[in-house]
Amino acid sequence: MLGVALLGLGRIGKIHLPNVLGNSRLELLYIVEENVNGVNEELAALGRAGKVAVVKSAELDRVLGDARITAVVICTPTDTHANLSIRSMEAGKHVLCEKPLAEGRDAVSRCYDVAEKRGLILMAAFNRRFDPSYRSLYTKVRAGEVGDIQFIRTTFRDTPLWLGAETFSQTFLSHDIDIVCWFAGGLPESVVCVGACHNSEVKENGDVDSCVVTMKFPGEIIGVIDFARYCSYGYDIRLEVFGTKGMLKMEPCLQTTVHEYSNAGKRDPPFAVSFPDRFKDAYLLELDHFIDAVEGKNKCEVTRFTSTAISTVIDAIRKSFHTQTIVKLSSA
Ligand SMILES: NC(=O)c1ccc[n+]([C@@H]2O[C@H](COP(=O)([O-])OP(=O)(O)OC[C@H]3O[C@@H](n4cnc5c(N)ncnc54)[C@H](O)[C@@H]3O)[C@@H](O)[C@H]2O)c1
Repeated sequence: MLGVALLGLGRIGKIHLPNVLGNSRLELLYIVEENVNGVNEELAALGRAGKVAVVKSAELDRVLGDARITAVVICTPTDTHANLSIRSMEAGKHVLCEKPLAEGRDAVSRCYDVAEKRGLILMAAFNRRFDPSYRSLYTKVRAGEVGDIQFIRTTFRDTPLWLGAETFSQTFLSHDIDIVCWFAGGLPESVVCVGACHNSEVKENGDVDSCVVTMKFPGEIIGVIDFARYCSYGYDIRLEVFGTKGMLKMEPCLQTTVHEYSNAGKRDPPFAVSFPDRFKDAYLLELDHFIDAVEGKNKCEVTRFTSTAISTVIDAIRKSFHTQTIVKLSSA
């Protein structure tokens, strides 16, 4: 079993915690938190009270000095990722870091320089790639089922409303950028973004809560992302790949499979609540992918290029929104 430390037990850390605890190839030895209140209760709820050492972030060096630790799972806020990843890798640990690895390309490069120098796995947690629906669609597209790709369209309408980051940061758009670039097979040549705002609090911060991004890729492929920070009817995530031979479409996930039929017509079940239920399987599968990479059973699919490309595209999107122009990637 691989010894693991989990850093940060907030929204996403609480999703990874049961997955790490339940994985037969991992042994969770430490939870490192800035605010340790409530962490033991969280462990108790999972039947693991007293089985995992809970330490404050100031004690990280001691944790990283523990030779039993092989890998670190980083679930802390984005602005801590690069520093914590580098510290972990300097101590010889493999790293699974929540997305984004860092906001800027230079910081991403610094992280990968350390990973490559030390021969360690560094994986940013772009979980959607491991979701069975995205994966199946990707396999079919690569097998040529839609012919030449004309459009890759993603929809991301988020809920609940979360005001913790700007729209044009990687927090919101990075998953969709990752999916579109993954399907298109590389970076776009140009990007254009239009935004609008309906929420007064978001507007007061000079930000927008809705936007459409259009990207032109080599091979005459057009990528489109439509994003809303708040969706009143649930977590609405879609993907459509349209090509010369047809179309593949991933519909939003529903909470149950029960559809009601009556003389009033058909009523569908509600949409997924939010990312924890929609991407439950993806989080488990991404963890397995990371462990396989650490054990040398596969090559890590999420690479330096992935994180660098997303950072490059988000810079271009931000620039396009602020200048209201089409931005060529070479000038982003
Ligand atoms: N992949 C996904 O679907 C997904 C979903 C949500 C968030 N995220 C990413 O996860 C990261 C965390 O987001 P969140 O919403 O869980 O944040 P959060 O604020 O809910 O949780 C962060 C936790 O880290 C702790 N912390 C802060 N600094 C620390 C340090 N130096 N050492 C140890 N603990 C520390 C905080 O006390 C807090 O409990 C972000 O980068 C975000 O982009 C990814």
